[in-house]
Amino acid sequence: KKVVLAYSGGLDTSVILKWLQDEYNCEVVTFTADIGQGEEVEPARAKAISLGIKPENIYIEDLREEFVRDYVFPMFRANAIYEGEYLLGTSIARPLIAKRQAEIARITGADAVSHGATGKGNDQVRFEMGYLGQNSALTIIAPWREWDLNSREKLLAYAAEHGIKIEMSGKKSPYSMDANLLHISYEGGILEDPAAEPEESMWRWTVSPQNAPDEPEYIEIGYEKGDPVSLNGKALSPAVMLEQLNIIAGRHGIGRADIVENRFVGMKSRGCYETPGGTIMIKAHRAIESLTLDREEAHLKDELMPRYAKLIYNGFWFAPEREMLQAAIDKTQQNVRGTVRLKLYKGNVMVVGRSSDLSLFNPEYCTFEEDSVYDQKDAGGFIKLNALRFIIAGKARKNK
Ligand code: ARG
Ligand code: SIN
Repeated sequence: KKVVLAYSGGLDTSVILKWLQDEYNCEVVTFTADIGQGEEVEPARAKAISLGIKPENIYIEDLREEFVRDYVFPMFRANAIYEGEYLLGTSIARPLIAKRQAEIARITGADAVSHGATGKGNDQVRFEMGYLGQNSALTIIAPWREWDLNSREKLLAYAAEHGIKIEMSGKKSPYSMDANLLHISYEGGILEDPAAEPEESMWRWTVSPQNAPDEPEYIEIGYEKGDPVSLNGKALSPAVMLEQLNIIAGRHGIGRADIVENRFVGMKSRGCYETPGGTIMIKAHRAIESLTLDREEAHLKDELMPRYAKLIYNGFWFAPEREMLQAAIDKTQQNVRGTVRLKLYKGNVMVVGRSSDLSLFNPEYCTFEEDSVYDQKDAGGFIKLNALRFIIAGKARKNK
């Protein structure tokens, strides 16, 4: 019996590690991924060793570029937003962790995988759909659905009892948080009252719009096949692009959201999110699409978007219907290239200019001045035929 655990090095997953050893009597392999959560991942190694994990059973990997290139960017090509507000920061990271965890299970000959998500949330679904999508033979161990350590005190008591050192580095956050290069989320604590405004000190990545600079900042993003590839004229890798945009947007108070969302398991949940770089990206991507996409192509894409966003939220990243939609979305992005100029000011992202060598904005046609390509008389027939039904119905009803 061997199990690969998604291990952060924190208290919860350290307790899980110990519990797996005791309860299941199995060999534990730990997997810790850097997806830009902003915490060092290396300390997880010493932590795992102190809990009796063999050095060859410790996997620590930097997945930041893969995360942004193969998950975040494809999702932004669709302009995906869940329920009108949520940019899916946690939802899009789980499939990558699950996929890599299943791969490590194969490499190490493990027959089981385990994670620290509770039995009440979306994350358990996303992890496990990911595992089973990779390898349907894996046994899944979800301790939160099995044990009775369902409070902070019980968890701490278990840790103390089993010699798990608890680093009380700084004060414990009163929120359930999750972070990666795309976002940081806050749930629980006082947020469980949807009527209560969170205190300013909760927000970690953005200044409040009130305290943002009084001078706007202009930036220019270059696009290629629907992906941002350069910032202010400088080519950047996907992860560095998002990291830079997070810093710039953060100092202008951009990307905060405070929402009540519908979880897949059926309950509502109140969450606060900071998605600074993503908030710039969604605006900029729409701006470059506005020049380069055909009208009907763009509209159909917009109709499919909520379906696509829901698939990601619900954990269906590796499902054939998500891949099918992705293929269609990616096809539309072939001609999505050019540059977008944006003005950032006190929590706002404003598009102030866009250009593309493939622009469909043709001044010859759209000018309010005299033109030589468009015959205004054509519009008369166009409107008449579109209104033909009204004309026929009007006649029919007048005769009654
Ligand atoms: N509610 C958000 C979602 O379902 C964020 C979940 C955050 N996860 C966490 N383990 N704190 O995507
Ligand atoms: C959890 O339950 O582990 C976090 C919240 C969620 O997954 O939705």
